[in-house]
Amino acid sequence: MTTDRTAVEFRPAGPEDATAVARIWHHGWRDGHLGHVPGDLVAARTPESFGTRAAERVGDTVVAIVDDAVAGFVMVVEDEVEQVYVSEDHRGTGVATALLAEAERLVEAGGHRRAWLAVVAGNARARRFYERCG
Ligand SMILES: CC(C)(COP(=O)(O)OP(=O)(O)OC[C@H]1O[C@@H](n2cnc3c(N)ncnc32)[C@H](O)[C@@H]1OP(=O)(O)O)[C@@H](O)C(=O)NCCC(=O)NCCS
Repeated sequence: MTTDRTAVEFRPAGPEDATAVARIWHHGWRDGHLGHVPGDLVAARTPESFGTRAAERVGDTVVAIVDDAVAGFVMVVEDEVEQVYVSEDHRGTGVATALLAEAERLVEAGGHRRAWLAVVAGNARARRFYERCG
């Protein structure tokens, strides 16, 4: 599947999205970080911790909707793209590319000329994705 064939819509997250965001965040965080960050941090990142953070951060979150379900999300604060997460079943479909483009649009709409993000050194898939997106 490509971006062209995957119909993705974006909307600001609401409190009702917190559960879906927390699930994608929890699983995606483990995919991207296990083996690359200290064990103490892994132990602290429980499902409950993501539930709390997702609810707290709903105002910074935009969700990607595919077939009426949350397929991914991004959190943007000022010029920083803080989180880019796509659920397992939508990876490799172009949803991530569309999500990052939406994040850059939000940064620009906020009056910033350049967006930035940080990614852990060992997160090879994310790094490859960000490199491909320039
Ligand atoms: C990071 C993420 C948003 C990227 O979305 P995606 O749909 O997986 O991205 P794509 O499939 O379009 O691109 C990933 C690239 O990595 C490559 N890749 C896949 N698995 C890989 C691996 N284990 N090591 C290195 N590269 C890998 C893919 O081949 C692709 O490169 P290509 O286009 O040159 O073929 C998504 O994987 C995700 O949500 N991951 C978990 C959460 C995360 O780590 N978020 C980033 C935190 S900063």
